[in-house]
Amino acid sequence: MEIIICPDAEEVGRVAAAKVARVCAGSEAPVLGLATGSSPLAIYADLQRMVAEGRLDLSRATAFALDEYVGLDPSHPESYRSVIHRTVTEPLSLDPARVHVPEGSAQDLEAAAADYDRAIREAGGVDVQILGIGSNGHIGFNEPTSSFASRTRIKTLTARTRADNQRFFDSLDQVPTHCLTQGLGTIMEADHVVLVAQGSAKAPAVAASVEGPVSSMWPASVLQHHQRATVVVDEAAAAGLRLADYYREVYAGKPEWQRFA
Ligand code: F6R
Repeated sequence: MEIIICPDAEEVGRVAAAKVARVCAGSEAPVLGLATGSSPLAIYADLQRMVAEGRLDLSRATAFALDEYVGLDPSHPESYRSVIHRTVTEPLSLDPARVHVPEGSAQDLEAAAADYDRAIREAGGVDVQILGIGSNGHIGFNEPTSSFASRTRIKTLTARTRADNQRFFDSLDQVPTHCLTQGLGTIMEADHVVLVAQGSAKAPAVAASVEGPVSSMWPASVLQHHQRATVVVDEAAAAGLRLADYYREVYAGKPEWQRFA
C-alpha cells in the first residue's frame, strides 16, 4: 500500500484527486468507482476544478457508485442516487446515462445486485475506485465480518454505521437498515483504489486496516492484498499509524512525477 499523510483535509482531497485524474488521463473512456459520504467531497471539488479549467475531460467516463440504501425512494435527497447526481454527475459534467447506482428499490434485490456486478464487468472493470472508510473499517457498506470474496449484495447496516450516518437524516429511525453494496471481491477487482480518510474518528480504522492483520473484522484491511492501493489521510486520521514517519520519508523521497500534489 502507498500511504500518503497530508497536513490537512484539503490537501487530502487535492492529492487524491490528482491521483484519480492521472489514472483517468490514461484512458479515453475511464471507468470511475464512486463513493458517497463526506470523505470524497474534496476530491470531487478538485476534479470539478480540473474539468472547468479544461485539464480533465470526463465526458466519456462511465461511473459506478459503491452502494445504495434499500427502502429509500430514489428521489429522496439522501438516496445515493440523488447524492451522486448532486455531488458528482452534475459538477463533473458526466453523462447521466453512464452513471450507475445499485437499484436499492428494485423488486428483486438479488437480481439487481447480480446485474450490477455484471454491468461493472461488461464496462471493462473499474479503472480507479474512490473509497472512504467507516469508523468500523467498512468500505462500501461491507460491514465487519464481510467475506473477502463477496460480490454486490444486500447487507444489513450495523448500529454504528447507522449512528454515523444519522447526520444526513432527521432522526435515527429514518436511517435505512439495509443496503445494496459492491462486495469486497468486487472492489478488489478495480485496477487502482484510492482510499481517503480525514479526522481523528477514522484513526483507529486506518491504523487497523493499514498496519493490523488482514481480518474481516476490519474490512478495509483486505486492501493490503491490492496491488495498487493508495491511502491518503490527514494528520488526525494518521494518528494511530506506528510507521507514520516512514511513510512520510518514502513519499518525500519519491521523484516529482511519482507524487500527486
Ligand atoms: C459510501 C460508502 C462508505 C463511506 C464511509 C465513510 O458510499 O461506501 O463506505 O465511504 O461510511 O463515510 P464518510 O465519508 O461520510 O465518513
